[in-house]
Amino acid sequence: MNMRFEPARDLHGSVAPPADKSISHRAAMLGAMSSEPVRITNYLEAADTRSTLEAVSALGALVEENDGELVIRGTGLREAREPDGPIDVGNAGTLLRLLPGWLAAQQGRTFTLDGDDSIRRRPVDRVALPLREMGANLEAREGRFAPLTVRGEHLRAVDLDLDVASAQVKSCVLFAALTADGTTTVTEPGRSRDHTERMLLRAGVGIERRGDTVSAENVDEIQLESVSVPGDASSAAFLVAAGVLVPGSRLLLSGVGVNWTRVGFLRIVRRMRGIVLGDVEQESEALSDSEPTSDLDVAHGALEGTTVHPGEVPLAIDELPLVALLGCFAEGQTVVSGAQELRVKESDRIAGVVDGLRGLGAEIEATEDGFVVTGSGGLRGGTIDSRGDHRLAMVGAIAGLASREGVEVIGMDAAAVSYPRFVEDLRALGAWS
Ligand code: S3P
Repeated sequence: MNMRFEPARDLHGSVAPPADKSISHRAAMLGAMSSEPVRITNYLEAADTRSTLEAVSALGALVEENDGELVIRGTGLREAREPDGPIDVGNAGTLLRLLPGWLAAQQGRTFTLDGDDSIRRRPVDRVALPLREMGANLEAREGRFAPLTVRGEHLRAVDLDLDVASAQVKSCVLFAALTADGTTTVTEPGRSRDHTERMLLRAGVGIERRGDTVSAENVDEIQLESVSVPGDASSAAFLVAAGVLVPGSRLLLSGVGVNWTRVGFLRIVRRMRGIVLGDVEQESEALSDSEPTSDLDVAHGALEGTTVHPGEVPLAIDELPLVALLGCFAEGQTVVSGAQELRVKESDRIAGVVDGLRGLGAEIEATEDGFVVTGSGGLRGGTIDSRGDHRLAMVGAIAGLASREGVEVIGMDAAAVSYPRFVEDLRALGAWS
């Protein structure tokens, strides 16, 4: 489905962004691992997180919906059921990467994970390699792509050094650690989002963090009574960008998750002199067991270019295409480096955002691991291809609202992967009448 976004006059009002995708995935998977029912409030209703509910159902969990609240009755940590056929993860990379950590320990059972065309292009060797060190038996197409077959084995605890800062890989290893013999440690080259650690701490797991190293002990069972999912900082980021870019705008975004490992984008926007007020969690060494939320008050204002350093990248990874968009409207240059991971997201997001924004009139160049944008007073407009990637579709839409001539987005339906109400929310904020 293609959709046109005309230049907006100003945006006003209040919206609650959709529930957090990362936290919803984790809550459903840990719910499936629990022996006692887990209540989840504000679970994300979107294509990706529906795939996770279908996956955990196929593995034997019962999923009930009561008054907008989910109750998951899991199988227990070591009792996942062998499904009748392959598990379809759809477009959900987080499901593809995290689930094997649990399944690898289901001795005597075999599981195959597969998904859509985009999923089949995304590497799974990044989780297969560390899991094999723990004794897992996994087989991937050409050694690194889905379909991925996991045969349950006895797992042993190891000390792992990851070569990418990836919350998905870290979380997969932490799931495996729950059933491995002993204490597993996982060290990342930099900090990535810590939702899994927080949820495991709440679930009674012996988990600790020291610098970039997390250690987790095995457990008999998961004790997670309930999870309340905050608003998704990554989905909110599109509305933040809209508020900052469209002249005259003033938006209130309510209930946004502001875990400090997720709000790198807000720090970058503020550095660009964008106006975003809110009570964002401060960086802390201590591991928290909760997910803080805040309302965000966003207003339009002039922006300055900035340099995003490699260390900041994992904490703003999904929002970097929006940094490119903001850069088009900022004074001076905006540079992102150390972001080669963008090339293996739902699409190659460096190519997608650079080609896409250039087609709308941006002065932007791709580098191997990022991009350089030179602010040229905004964007003319034109047509942008989402390449089936939800985040590129939404970047195109916001670009259209802030452009001089409007933008046609090819494949706008991709937004339903994480933010099905995106277009309705923009309408509610007065993007068009
Ligand atoms: C996610 C981690 C990130 C992010 C993805 C969701 C998660 O991926 O890009 O959208 O929920 O753990 P990587 O771990 O590959 O960086």
